[in-house]
Formats: sequence, structure tokens, C-alpha cells
Amino acid sequence: MVGGDANAPPPGVGLRAGKLRIRVLFAPAMTQTRVLTGITTSGTPHLGNYVGAIRPAIAASHAPGVESFYFLADYHALVKVQEPARVQRSTLEIAAAWLACGLEPDKVWFYRQSDIPETTELTWLLTCIAGKGLLNRAHAYKAAVDRNREAGEDDDAGINAGLFMYPVLMAADILLFNANKVPVGRDQIQHIEMARDFAQRFNHLYGEHFVLPEAIIEEQVATLPGLDGRKMSKSYDNTIALFASRETLKKQIQSIVTDSRAPGECKDTEGSALFQIYQAFASADETAAMRAAFADGIGWGDAKQQLFERIDAEVAPLRERYEALVAHPQRIEQQLRDGAQRLRAQHATPVLARLREAVGLRDLGTHAPAKPAGRQSIPAALPLFKQYREADGRFYFKLVEGERVLLQSAAFDSPKDAGMRIAALKRGKFDGADAQVALGDGVDADAVQAALAALAAAEAEKA
Ligand code: TRP
Repeated sequence: MVGGDANAPPPGVGLRAGKLRIRVLFAPAMTQTRVLTGITTSGTPHLGNYVGAIRPAIAASHAPGVESFYFLADYHALVKVQEPARVQRSTLEIAAAWLACGLEPDKVWFYRQSDIPETTELTWLLTCIAGKGLLNRAHAYKAAVDRNREAGEDDDAGINAGLFMYPVLMAADILLFNANKVPVGRDQIQHIEMARDFAQRFNHLYGEHFVLPEAIIEEQVATLPGLDGRKMSKSYDNTIALFASRETLKKQIQSIVTDSRAPGECKDTEGSALFQIYQAFASADETAAMRAAFADGIGWGDAKQQLFERIDAEVAPLRERYEALVAHPQRIEQQLRDGAQRLRAQHATPVLARLREAVGLRDLGTHAPAKPAGRQSIPAALPLFKQYREADGRFYFKLVEGERVLLQSAAFDSPKDAGMRIAALKRGKFDGADAQVALGDGVDADAVQAALAALAAAEAEKA
């Protein structure tokens, strides 16, 4: 669900106390898990994308407690595709495919990477803390260097710096929105690890701004075999287009490679691309029936006809929607712009403002220049916990800052119970109001966190 900024980056305070560098970190109010999916816009969607990415991702977006982000990674596409018309066409086709397959832009964030210029700005901030040595070891870059070496070329011949920087741009996609989980294929795990590394370095230098993202590897999602039995992939030229016409779909399915067994001969399901593709679309019962038909010697022509009918039954209604969508590119354009605009206003712009501030890209007028390694100033009226007993004989506390009540507790049976809750708050454990503590009038969770940070800072200074 697209809502308020419940997962705002955890505010933190970094300060020096004596020689010790102390950082106070507050757990963000984690009401929702943010799941972020990027789709490079460098091709036409095929059945392998549908089974391996689109279908499971859209199903996952309906899970409760998940805030989903889907974006068209068109900056990433430029690393590989330098034909403008192809970048544009692919962006349209992929956007239309996801919408046709059931993505609901009013329930998830759906946007185009290049509509969020904060992404490139964050890329630079991350570039300046990313270890070059780490990037040297990125699989995609290393593979390109290895190919050059084998060919007796210069290491970096024909390699653009975009390929080298690819992991940093991807980290910016993820960290900008503090995504908790990123569903990826195995080939992308290293990129998520790098994003974690950059996040950690940044947090270490500038305070706790970023959540460390985790890769989710979809083990159950089978990779679909292509026409020749190898993994279905554009680079093997063995794909079946997701939204080709019925006739083309039929023709492509007829060209799936099979063995030479005649009708009546028992067929092997093991290692059969046809069977595996069927399974990816069929129910358990249908799969069992097809298995029995293989054993009974179904002819390849019949099996292909059944496969075609099964896929078409699922794809036909999507195809109809897809065609309607692609016929009106300006509507998709509007949807993408709208998504990006709301997302920038709600997240990207304020986040970048905080990050710019954190690294020292600051308004010269509003900040007295702090001494580089100096202490952060602590507000004059320090917040204070007040513990007291009411006429009802029970125990309470408040957190106050001057006249203002920031937190008001409910009743505790003993002073010890109240004290324990105060101690937990002082350790930075505040996840928002709950049955024990309520926010004061007109007070938000950020104000409480700031007050707790100031308290902790003062304590640290005394220590
Ligand atoms: N690199 C991803 C891929 O090729 C696409 C991508 C770009 C991405 N940015 C991302 C995926 C951020 C997840 C998160 O599949």
C-alpha cells in the first residue's frame, strides 16, 4: 500500500564524546516491509520473464504488510543498448506487460528510474564512498575484462564506465527508498551485497541513513527452458514472446525441440523442455495428466497443441489488455510520471535533502559552520523523563521537553515496570506509540526520536 513514510530512514545522531565516536541509532517504525524490483528495459518480454519474474512479483505485491516498488531501469538499459528507439520501445513494452499482468499502480509504486533524478544524484554520493577495488571485482565487469584478456586485448577495451558503475547505480535505486528486500536472480546477489557495503560505509561516515537491503532468491520459481532446452534467454535467441499473436505463439511452440520418438512411443518427461514449460502453466492435476499422456505415447504434435492451448488460455486475456495499453502510450506515460512525481514528493526529494545535509552540501546561511570534528549541539532544554504516582496508586511517567509533553505513559503496576520501559526508551527502542506510551498532543514520532537522541547524547557526554 502506498502510504505515509512509516519506513523513513532511521534518524541517527553521530557525535564525538571525548575520543570515542558514539552513534545513537533508532529502529525505524517498521510497519511494512519494502520490496523493490527493478526491470532493465532492454528487450521484449518473453514467457521466461513472465514465469520467472512478472507473475511471482505481482502475486507477491498482494501480500499484506508489503509496500512494493516496481521500476523500469532505463538508466541501466543505456549501459547495453545504445539505440534510442529500442530503449523507448522496450520501456513501453515492459511497462505495458507489467500493467497487463495485473500490476496496480494505485496500490504499488510504479515508476521509471529516469523520472527520479535523485537516483543519479545519490549515485554520485555513493560513488564517492564506494571502493574502486570492490567494483573491480564485480562479476559482469570482471567477465568483460576476462574476455578482453582472452582475446589479447587491453583489459578495458570496449568497456564503458557505465558497466563499471552499474552496481553503484543499482545501489542508489535500492538505498534511495530504503528497501528491505530485493527479489533477484542469483546473478544479482553480488549487487545486493555491494549495496549493503556502500550503505554501511555511508552510515559509518555520515550517520545511520540507510537500511541494509537483503536479497530474496526465489528458489521455487523455476527458470523456464527455451525453444532449444537451454534457459529461456534473449542472449540464446530461444525465447517465446509473451505477447506475440496467437498464430506466432502457436508457431513458436511448434518449434520447441523434441526428440524423434513417434506417436505411440513412451516419452520422457525428464529433460523435456515441452513438459517443463507445460508444468509452469498447468495445475497439479493437469501436470499429472500430461505426465500420464507422455507415458502413454502422446504424439509431439498433440502435446504441442495442448501446450499451446494451455498457455494461450492464461495469456489471451492478458494479451488483450496489453494490446489496448500499447495502443495508448500516452496513458502509460502519464501513469509513470504520476508515480514518479508522488514518489519524489513523498520520499526521494526529502531523502536527498537529508543526505545532502549529511555529507555537507549545505545552505551556508542556515548553519553556523561547525568545527569539523566538533560535538553536535544539544538543545538548551534537555528532555526529561518524569516518573510519578497517581491517586489510583499506580505508576506513570512522561517524557517532557520544557513545557511540552512528548510521551505520556499508561499505568504500570510497579515503579520497576515503569522504569524498565524508560530504560528501553533511553536505549533508543521507540517504534511509535503503543499500549504503554502515547504521543503527546501534536507530537510525532520523529520529535520523540530527536528528544531521545538528545538525551542519549547528553548522557554520553557525561560518561
Ligand atoms: N540489474 C537488475 C537486472 O539486470 C535490474 C535492476 C536495476 C535492479 N536496478 C535494480 C534490480 C534495483 C533490483 C533492484 O535484473
